[in-house]
Formats: sequence, C-alpha cells, structure tokens
Amino acid sequence: MPTRAHGDESAREPDPTQSLRLAFHELPMDVNAPGASALHAKGGLSATTGPTSSVLLSPDSSALAQEGFEMRSQPVPASETTAPAMVVAGPEAVPADDEIELKIIPPVIGIDLGTTYSCASAKRGERVEIIPNAQGQRSTPSWVSFTADERLVGDSAKNAYQSNPQNTVFDVKRLIGRDFDDPELQKDLKYWPFKVVQEDGKLKIQVQDCGVVRNFTPEEIAAMVLRKMKRDAESFLGQQVVQAVITVPAHFNDAQRQATKDAGAIAGLQVIRIINEPTAAAIAYSLNKRGEPSRVLVYRLGGGTFDVSLISIKDGDSKVLATAGDTKIGGEDFDNRVLDYLVKQHRSRTGIDVSSNLRTLGKLRSEVEKAKRTLSSQQSTNIDIEALEGEHGFSETLTRAKFEELNMDLFRRTMLLTEQVLIDAKLRKEDVGDIIMVGGSTHIPKVQQLLKNYFGKEPSTIMNPEEAAAFGTGVQGAILAGDDDYSTLAVLDVNSLTLGVEVVGDVMSPIIPRNTPIPTCMSKIYTTFADWQTSVVIRVFEGEEPLTRYNHLLGMFPLSGIPPARRGVPKIDVTFRLDVNGIMKVTAVDKGTSMLKSINRGNSKSITISNVLKHARS
Ligand SMILES: Nc1ncnc2c1ncn2[C@@H]1O[C@H](COP(=O)(O)OP(=O)(O)OP(=O)(O)O)[C@@H](O)[C@H]1O
Ligand SMILES: [Mg+2]
Repeated sequence: MPTRAHGDESAREPDPTQSLRLAFHELPMDVNAPGASALHAKGGLSATTGPTSSVLLSPDSSALAQEGFEMRSQPVPASETTAPAMVVAGPEAVPADDEIELKIIPPVIGIDLGTTYSCASAKRGERVEIIPNAQGQRSTPSWVSFTADERLVGDSAKNAYQSNPQNTVFDVKRLIGRDFDDPELQKDLKYWPFKVVQEDGKLKIQVQDCGVVRNFTPEEIAAMVLRKMKRDAESFLGQQVVQAVITVPAHFNDAQRQATKDAGAIAGLQVIRIINEPTAAAIAYSLNKRGEPSRVLVYRLGGGTFDVSLISIKDGDSKVLATAGDTKIGGEDFDNRVLDYLVKQHRSRTGIDVSSNLRTLGKLRSEVEKAKRTLSSQQSTNIDIEALEGEHGFSETLTRAKFEELNMDLFRRTMLLTEQVLIDAKLRKEDVGDIIMVGGSTHIPKVQQLLKNYFGKEPSTIMNPEEAAAFGTGVQGAILAGDDDYSTLAVLDVNSLTLGVEVVGDVMSPIIPRNTPIPTCMSKIYTTFADWQTSVVIRVFEGEEPLTRYNHLLGMFPLSGIPPARRGVPKIDVTFRLDVNGIMKVTAVDKGTSMLKSINRGNSKSITISNVLKHARS
C-alpha cells in the first residue's frame, strides 16, 4: 500500500496554483530486480499539475531545449521497446553510449587535458611513455590563438598572446560544460582578454578567425588542442590514433564530462573512457608500488582545478574510497590574485590603471606566472616590465610571504576538502599511507607545508606532479586495449556529486549519493502530490545541498499520461544510471501504465526524449 510521504521531504506546502512537485513515495527499490535495469535515460524532475487535463502544465519543448534536450513525442510501438535501456523515437535516436559495441584498437592514447597544459601518453614497445609534442616538449599549453591567416595551438599560441590578446584563448577547461550565467564563470570574465558571448542559449567564445568574426563553443576550442595532441601522438607512435582516454577533474559534473567527451569527438577521437585525474595518478603510483597494499591520498592542485581522493591500492587494484574537490581553485586563481594586487599597487603609485589595457595585462600575466614559479624556490623576486603603460615602466618586488597571504584562503580551502574526504571515507589521517602530490601547483612550498603539518609526514615525491595523471591515463588506455602487461590492474572509481530529483518544497531527494562506486544504477519510487494529477516533470539535480535551488540543475523532462488518481496512489519509478565515465541517464516510469519517459544526453547531437508505452509488467 503506497504511503504518501512527501511531508518527510518537503519544507513547505506548495502553492496549488504553481506547478506541483513530486512527492516522495518509498525507499530505493532493488534495481537488480528483473526488468528494472532496462529502463534508463537522462533528465531532470519536478511535478506539474492540471487536475484532469492530459495537456497539463508540463514545460513546453522550448524550455526543455534550453536545458539542452530536444523533445520528441511520437509513441514507439511496444514491440520496439523490448531492448533494454533503449528508448528510441524515430530514425535519429541513438543507443546509449555504453551500449555501442566498441572495438578497442591499440594504441589507445591517454590525454590529460589541463586548464593550462595538456600532456599525453601511450604504450610504445614495453612501456607507457609521455609523448613529446612536435616542438619536443612533454606538455603542450592548452592555448589556441587565431591570427589573420592561421590558427596556432600550444606554445606558438601562448607566444602570440601579447601581440594578439583578444584572439588568444586559454582556460577553456573553465568554460567547458558551463552555462553563460554560471556565477563562477562570470567572476572569471574580467581576466579573459577574449570575448565570451551567448548564442542560441549556449556559451561561445568570439574571435577574429582569419579576418572573420566567429563564435566557437568551448568544446570546439578544446578539440583544437586535442587534435594537436592526436597528431603529435601519431608522429611519435608512427601510426594512426583513433581512440583515447581523457582525464577530467574528479569533481567535474555531468555536463562538463559530457562536453569533454564531445570535444574528443570533434577532434576525431573516439573517447573510450573519461577518467578522474586523481584516479589516473593513483594508477601511475600503483605501478611504482606494486605488491604493497596501501591507502593513499592523492592531492591534486593544477592550473585551474583542485581535487583530492582517498584511494586504496592492493595488488594493482585501485579503489577510490572518497573524493572531493573544487573545479575553481588552481594556479590561474593564484596568478589572478597577484595580478589584482599588482594592478592596485601600480595604480596607487603612478595613478595609471592598466586594468583595461589588454596588452599590458597580457604582459603582466606572463610575468606574474613566472614570478610565482620563482617564489617556489626563492623568498622574493622582482617583476620588471619596461614601458608598461606610456612612459611608465613597472617594477615591483613580490615576496613569497605576500604571495602566500594573497592566496591563503584558497590553500586553506583545499585542506578543508582534504579533511572532508577523510570524513567521507570514515578514516583518520593516521590511516593514510603515502600522500601523493599531483599538479604543477603542488610545487608551492606553502601547499606542501600545510599538507605536511596536517598529516605529520612528508608527502611522497616518487612521481612527477605534472606527468603522473597523463601517465596513468595512458596506462588506463593500455588496460582497455587489453594489453597483457597491465592485465592485472583494475580501477574502481566513485561519483563525486550526489544526484537526485526535486520533490515538493524544492527539496533535493538524493537517488545516488556521492562516493558511490561507478558504474551504478539506483531507483526510487515517487508519487503525485495532488489529487487527479496526470503529469509530473522530472527535474534532475546534482549537489550536496538539501534545497535544489543551491544545487545544479542537469535537466528536466515531463512524464504525462498518468491515469487520474488520488494523490499518493500513482507510483513513478525514477531510475538513474551512472556509467563508468560518471555520465548519467535517467528514466521515469509510471508503474501503473508502464508509460516510460527518458532522456539520454549521451550524444548531445542526437538527443531524444520519447514516450514509450511499454508492456505492463506483470
Ligand atoms: N614551480 C611552480 N610553482 C608554483 N606553481 C607552479 C610551478 N610550476 C608550475 N606551476 C603552476 O602549475 C600550473 C600547471 O600545472 P598543471 O599542468 O598540473 O595544471 P593543468 O593540468 O594545466 O590544470 P588542471 O589540472 O587544473 O586542469 C600552472 O598554474 C603553473 O603556473
Ligand atoms: Mg591537470
């Protein structure tokens, strides 16, 4: 007998004139029950009403399209719906990604796609090796510069920055998978000399490309970097490269992961796996420490992102116990703090405000980054720029103490997240074996000192912080390619964000808690909130806050055609499936009619939502 338990989850009664929310119905069901795992897709969830109407108040397709979903509504004959996990609607429908039978063809390259630098690796001969780029460097700046007659990628793009700031794009990893009005992104806008615009509801980067104004999506820019990595890998390996494993920060959300995958596809790569950066580093570590069981803490602080994972390693198996992070802490933020400070200093000394002079800022930014690196081995350094603005040169001394003061709150936040990961894993700091530092920003002495003070021991130095994730990603590629040398290695990761649906009172009802091993599939049953309610809208969120308004909306879709009944009577089964890449699909089924609705954003070019009348389950 269903019990309407929406009161448990709601903070307040809904306004009956507003769209109604779903009511929570029962505890998670066993998704391994026969048939249950066959129903999946992706979207977001809340309820609408319309006591009797079949049209109801479900959002229109344009609202859904804004969420990134294309809507279709033609029913598919029941006979077409027997295949598991497939909700098809017409010829454009595609199977969910993980249902495509992929033939893995070596070599599979690993690419650590960084905010500031990218690094690739692959198995060549006996070993996985870091792939030098065409310029002989082991990493490639994740920069693209559009000039009057060509596109530059990597070192040449970075070198072109000062002469062509508006058309030189960097930090694209901070833009990928984000909405234009994302508050974090808005904060960064003032630091970017290139233009970020909104076109058709999508965030784009506007540049003059060979004399023509063009808007590119972040995925397209990232693809230009990936294409260079692919080509350089082909020269190094002497053969064509088709498949790749690409890294993302552990804390990247569903949209950011999907967009990274799309960038790979645009670059002509089949992305066979998205792997979390700290997990990739742990794979590299496990090869160094074969045979010794241990619990390691990977602290990764790069150019634009931070994450920390607690990983248990035994006999070559890496199992992530918990992970936390912030996709907005990294070397770029440290540089920006110093940049702001220097601009202010310069203004108070000379009365000149350089903040709107893009060329000057570009020059200053490069010098600041150099100074920051110098301060990792020296106590102070000078930043001297001749004729920075008009007649005035720029000369400022920056001390390590000042650098640390400017960034201490960010360093402390990484330590709070480190504590969080121990709490989530229910471990004490004494339970941690090695502390592995990954990412260029772990060279900062203050960061090392905070870690050392917290754990009471020196972090491990056995791995190169800049290359560990790239190396581990290449190993993951070799594992997926079935390489015998790595056949004993296994990797089990977790999701980094709680996933759930919105129920009455704008309350987040979690379905997959964070730190759940992936892949996974979990369901909960919900019900209607109003008598005779015939439609609900599934609104899917990710995040840890109890109220959905503070979490991130992934998407939404309506489920209509619910037979009119007293509130609390219908049973709506919402199933989330999270694949090995951390990418999600959602299905909602009205168990009374077996009306199934699903969203698959697995391939953003072929999004479909379909209404499927399934055979009633016995
Ligand atoms: N010696 C150093 N001292 C301080 N910072 C450094 C040093 N060496 C490199 N960095 C910083 O490290 C960052 C680059 O590190 P890394 O290559 O790990 O980042 P990324 O992969 O580009 O970024 P992310 O992983 O966050 O996406 C840059 O911000 C760089 O300024
Ligand atoms: Mg990185």
